[in-house]
Amino acid sequence: MSAAAALLEVRDLAVRYGHVEAVHGVSLAVPEGRIVTLIGPNGAGKTSILSALAGLVRPAGGRVRLGGDDVTGVPAHRAVAAGLSLVPEGRAILGRMTIEENLVLAGERRRDAASLRAAIEEQYRRFPVLGERRASLAGSLSGGQQQMLAFARALLARPRVLLLDEPSMGLSPILVQQIFETVKAIHREGATILLVEQNARLALAISDYAYVLERGRLVLEGPSRELEADPRVQAAYLGRAR
Ligand SMILES: Nc1ncnc2c1ncn2[C@@H]1O[C@H](COP(=O)(O)OP(=O)(O)OP(=O)(O)O)[C@@H](O)[C@H]1O
Ligand SMILES: [Mg+2]
Repeated sequence: MSAAAALLEVRDLAVRYGHVEAVHGVSLAVPEGRIVTLIGPNGAGKTSILSALAGLVRPAGGRVRLGGDDVTGVPAHRAVAAGLSLVPEGRAILGRMTIEENLVLAGERRRDAASLRAAIEEQYRRFPVLGERRASLAGSLSGGQQQMLAFARALLARPRVLLLDEPSMGLSPILVQQIFETVKAIHREGATILLVEQNARLALAISDYAYVLERGRLVLEGPSRELEADPRVQAAYLGRAR
């Protein structure tokens, strides 16, 4: 994949927690308008990479460029302002606040109330159940609805690249299908997406290009169609165990 044309470019990224180096020199590229997926087993470092991109942890090394601008190590609010929005692992919605309050809090850095209002209404149109239940506590939503709220919150900022961390986690098979339909719909509207998943089968099916991460290092990459057919991927990620 030509890194020169990519909207998001990550070079030699390293993430460390104290003495533990979780990500060792990872380079990847997400071209505009594509879905790129990052798959790999538990503890491989997938969340660490997204956290570094979203400004939640400071990279120990490497460079991150978005649309040619250096956004390495910027704090989370600047990452959002630059166009990187994260739907975090486990969703991180505020269960004791209403749906509306969750959205207002996520968007409060917007300059004026009118544009925030318009952005929230746009998300209520996308996810009608959130609009109908806007005054309900977010904790009363089902798992699938909470994931919709997490998506809505990230989309409020109209990101240039949407970072999704295991959106299917903990959902029933039907809801997993629905969430993947949502990802596809957002993509059809033009979104550029970096999708982290343990559900390799679905992730490869909806993505254009894929990276396989193991123990903090990329071990394989290629067009998703090719990786789906790769015996190493089939054995490790698409086998009978899944
Ligand atoms: N805050 C932290 N402090 C110390 N170590 C951490 C921290 N977060 C993650 N780690 C370690 O870094 C490594 C990578 O973790 P990470 O959460 O990035 O993996 P992951 O691929 O997202 O895994 P999963 O599939 O379980 O979500 C693991 O060894 C993990 O124990
Ligand atoms: Mg993770």
